[in-house]
Amino acid sequence: MPQTEQLTIDPTSPQPELIARAASIIKTGGLVAFPTETVYGLGADATNDAAIRGIFDAKGRPPDNPLIVHVADRQMLNRIALNISDKAARLIDRFWPGPLTLVLHRAPAVAPSVSAGLDTVAVRMPSAPVALALIRAAATPIAAPSANTSGRPSPTSADHVLQDLGGAVDLILDGGPTSIGIESTVIDMTADPPVILRPGWVTRDAISDLIGPVRTAASSAELSRSPGTRHQHYSPRARVVLIQSRSPEVILQTCLDLLNKGRIGYLGHTRTGISHPQFTEIIIGPTPQDYAASIYSELRRLDQSNPEVIVVQGIEPAAEGEAVMDRLERAASEVIAD
Ligand code: TXA
Ligand code: MG
Repeated sequence: MPQTEQLTIDPTSPQPELIARAASIIKTGGLVAFPTETVYGLGADATNDAAIRGIFDAKGRPPDNPLIVHVADRQMLNRIALNISDKAARLIDRFWPGPLTLVLHRAPAVAPSVSAGLDTVAVRMPSAPVALALIRAAATPIAAPSANTSGRPSPTSADHVLQDLGGAVDLILDGGPTSIGIESTVIDMTADPPVILRPGWVTRDAISDLIGPVRTAASSAELSRSPGTRHQHYSPRARVVLIQSRSPEVILQTCLDLLNKGRIGYLGHTRTGISHPQFTEIIIGPTPQDYAASIYSELRRLDQSNPEVIVVQGIEPAAEGEAVMDRLERAASEVIAD
């Protein structure tokens, strides 16, 4: 196992010498974890197949789950994707750099294992200065899934990366907590109308306002086009119970019932009023922004006290709330509605 080096970097104006160190690791086939505006990514040279296989090994990621390739400019995009449609170009003009990933036709320069055998490639241009500077300095597109062990909550801090991947990655660039906190929207632009494979921070309405109707992946055949969405995901070790009801009584009663079984963690925006040695409550703000910024780190934090169950209060699945609820539903093994 390699030693994992950790460097603290300025998230808004990253020090060039630290970026140069990270870029040299990427260029020589190593693995670098770095902050994006969504979550931390585990990066390797997208044109180096051996380096990419190192990502799958480090994460324990199923080999049929393809990676997102990160670019810093349009020339880099044109090296890895072919036949970019007019609708795709409009999305790029409007939302890049930012949390929108487009599935496009793949060019031969992309290492085969990046796309897990598909003839497409998922691409985004991140807006976080550290990510952009690293891609530019490495002068190669960087494939990067979220830098967590496969199935665990995505990392929103360098500590989360260290917890999951310490010893398995060459370098972690620590740029502090990420600003958004959940992953990008993934949209398949090779389908017509385009299909949203994973809801994210760029909302369905913002996309369809610009390019017209889009669909949601409904059938399992369609979901198999985004293999990562098939498996249970984003989960802490404890069982997660998601409450979709708005009623404080339902939340209170669920927590009280579960307290008979053991230690309970609760994460939500409504206080339960429960005071009990086996009960830990974490209150966060009620907006999708508040939830996105907190859910992964608070699920990890609650998990540390080894609870039997973590109860999570849901929010309205509208606008950015759709992405938040998508992640919570995937993390949950049970959903309680009215
Ligand atoms: O915000 C993000 O997207 C973060 C940061 C690091 O950029 N990355 C991220 O990567 O969330 P990952 O690997 O955790 O999720 C990538 C998702 C998976 O659901 C995967 O199946 C899908 O994108 N995907 C990747 N390539 C694809 C392709 N060619 N066709 C369809 N889906 C693809
Ligand atoms: Mg992931």
